[in-house]
Amino acid sequence: APYWVIVPAAGAGKRMGTAQPKQYLPLADKPLIAHTLQNILGWPNVTGIIVAIAADDRQFQSLAEAADPRVHTVTGGSERADSVLAALDFLSAQQPPETTVLVHDAARPLVEHGDIVRLLEAASMALLAQPASDTVKQAEPVAGGQSLVRQTLPRSEIWLAQTPQKAPLGRLRDCLARGLKENPAAITDEASALELAGHHPQLVPACRSNFKVTHPADLILAEALLRHRNS
Ligand code: C5P
Repeated sequence: APYWVIVPAAGAGKRMGTAQPKQYLPLADKPLIAHTLQNILGWPNVTGIIVAIAADDRQFQSLAEAADPRVHTVTGGSERADSVLAALDFLSAQQPPETTVLVHDAARPLVEHGDIVRLLEAASMALLAQPASDTVKQAEPVAGGQSLVRQTLPRSEIWLAQTPQKAPLGRLRDCLARGLKENPAAITDEASALELAGHHPQLVPACRSNFKVTHPADLILAEALLRHRNS
């Protein structure tokens, strides 16, 4: 079945500590986001891609991938969820509410094709995620800005959410719009907005290589993995 992909790419990338937003940092032969778009353009039966870019973006249109007729842009917002909502609004004006949408971060260039296939075959609301390999502590803030362990969470029940995250267009748009009004701090991905409305998206196990490029060392790792994959 056909589906659309939304790519939030309007962030400033503050944690990277570079002047350039992280989606445009060079990775091997081209900017990070170009690798992500090249990857998505190879997913099975993808109808179209909507990229949310910053209002002052001057680089996107110069990417070779931007010239693909399936690629469209909208202006993003101040938080990731605002950028996703802008793209959902754009898509809702031209597609029916039952259209399948996958939201995928520009900063995850290395998602595996097989994981995409399994996400597409999963329940109508589903996300890629990685079972935790570290033990996870919940912290209790104390005076002086330090933290103490409040408790250890049961590791076998902990999964780290990745993207893509999949849902029907109309439902995702309603849940995200409502979540952003009622509890914006709780909306850190698409699934969290669906959960606030009482839904239980399916967790689809995915490769660890689908990490989000966030800190400088992540760029080195991503480049090594890309070279390995292309060799
Ligand atoms: O900052 P973070 O790593 O959580 O960003 C995840 C993705 O969301 C990135 O691809 C980033 O460009 C995007 N984003 C966005 N609009 C914002 C903030 C982040 O599209 N206002």
